[in-house]
Amino acid sequence: MCGIIAYIGEGNAVPVLIKGLKKLEYRGYDSAGICVVENKRLITVKRKGRIEHLEKHPGLKNINSSLGISHTRWATHGEPSEINAHPHLDCKGEIAIVHNGIIENHNSLKKLLEKEGHKIVSDTDSEVIAHLIEKFYSSSLENAVAEALKLIEGAYGLAVIQKDENKIVAARKGSPLILGIGKNEMLVASDIPAVLQYTRKVIYLNDNEIAVLTNNSYSVMKINGEKANKKIHKIKWSIEETEKKGFRHFMLKEIFEQPDSVKNLLRGRMKNNKIKLTLDMDVKKIKRIIITACGTSWHSALIGKHIIEDLTRIPVYVDYASELRYRNPVIKKGDVLIVISQSGETADTLAALKEIKSKKCKCIGIVNVVGSTIAREVDSGIYLHAGPEMGVASTKAFSSQVLALLLFALWIRQEKGYKIDDDLVRELKKIPEKINIIVKKSDRLRELAEKFKNSTNFLYLGRGINFPVALEGALKLKEISYIHAEGYPAAEMKHGPIALIDRNMPVVFLATKNNLSDKILSNMQEVKARKGRIIAVANEKNKEIEKLADYIIIVPETLNILSPILNIIPLQLLAYHIADLKGLNVDKPRNLAKSVTVE
Ligand code: AGP
Repeated sequence: MCGIIAYIGEGNAVPVLIKGLKKLEYRGYDSAGICVVENKRLITVKRKGRIEHLEKHPGLKNINSSLGISHTRWATHGEPSEINAHPHLDCKGEIAIVHNGIIENHNSLKKLLEKEGHKIVSDTDSEVIAHLIEKFYSSSLENAVAEALKLIEGAYGLAVIQKDENKIVAARKGSPLILGIGKNEMLVASDIPAVLQYTRKVIYLNDNEIAVLTNNSYSVMKINGEKANKKIHKIKWSIEETEKKGFRHFMLKEIFEQPDSVKNLLRGRMKNNKIKLTLDMDVKKIKRIIITACGTSWHSALIGKHIIEDLTRIPVYVDYASELRYRNPVIKKGDVLIVISQSGETADTLAALKEIKSKKCKCIGIVNVVGSTIAREVDSGIYLHAGPEMGVASTKAFSSQVLALLLFALWIRQEKGYKIDDDLVRELKKIPEKINIIVKKSDRLRELAEKFKNSTNFLYLGRGINFPVALEGALKLKEISYIHAEGYPAAEMKHGPIALIDRNMPVVFLATKNNLSDKILSNMQEVKARKGRIIAVANEKNKEIEKLADYIIIVPETLNILSPILNIIPLQLLAYHIADLKGLNVDKPRNLAKSVTVE
């Protein structure tokens, strides 16, 4: 979860690299660095802290270079510091590398290199790569890189330069890397937003591929030397889509984008009550569906269980990817795996996918980032088309994931010859407008946030399909406001957590209309009797709820199966406003990265 950008072309490399790093800060931001070639010398500048610290460094003034690499870091090995910041150089200071990933055998490589006289100066795993390339270097950088990579175990997204060779060598295994194909300029980056200002034409490197770029050419080969034929993808995301469009934070922009992201998901996939998905599987042979993911995506997986079992009567098993990957799971004929991942790069989810795939199981991906690693590992899938999600806290991806799972369930029904329920299709089409109604209550949620911003604990309670919404609401608050919050099945509260309830404990109830509404009311009574402060998400201010809830957030009524998509919106806004009122960095919360590409 570090960010890499490299440039070779006719322009000045430094401003391109700085601008690109800023677009990648969401991937990690505890330190940053740049290395450029000027008059056959490497000039390296590194800084602890944010990219603006690096940008102000006097060492970057008056540099005239058209070739360089740069990196913004999220520390995994070696604490954030100038010496541990990338780029890392070889002993002679003639080769520089930037790396995203983890070198699992870096200790043994370090011993080998130090025995041969190399001096490793940092505490990182990455630095060994620069010295390994130096060990093999004679006159071709790409050959030296290929030799070095054969000794490396672990994951890397890598960009390398050498003082005399006017080229960038890039390589990837397990960490995302794209090539930006420009006019007399080429870029290498960890993610699309960094290159969009220069080109919309990108190539996604696959694992075990090495690319060589000059200012007007590129070639990609497999690590075994074979040529790799690569497709150029045209990126449709406009530049402003990666900007904030006038919102205070990306997260708020992305909450408000949900009517559009939902429309984008449905676009072309639901025509005259026909569901159009291109999924590679024989529906009639499905006996069980396994869904695996992490974090917010795991919460949408839990909702998917309710939806798929309700609509298809196929049993669904949901598991954390980090657990499933090590469980040696029992996979039987008729099993289908669904992996859910916004970034398509989450290491645990990718590893679980590979584990299940190795057991000859059909794998489907529900992914947002086109061409991401998970998207290319699965047999087929459903892209969310939600546009870039820059805020570390996932919002629009979550609602689109839930909707994608609903489309999947409807598609199975259709493929099995059942009619699609007209009411459900009609209601589905109204969801964007109903989300719009809720996001317009943002100021009301801010007033509510003002009352609770100093709370130290929250409880979120829901039942049935809304229990995972309680989990997601709690995660949103935790990860951006640093207030402890717990999601719980409402009926379970009396088996312990009820001991926590007092006048200082805000309790958020998902209390929209469904077959469990009366049960929720009695859970609210239990909290009220213990002086808990109740915030209820409800469809109307009926007498019972008004008697029990201190604050009521009204959301439009919808079918229970669709209610999570609406009920999560006020919880996203509540978390956002509490964090913002506390003056915290909502888009880049401490300790978090947008895509967790390490275990
Ligand atoms: C969500 O707000 C968090 N940032 C995190 O839990 C995230 O959902 C998780 O890391 C999975 O990411 P993915 O969907 O990109 O795989």
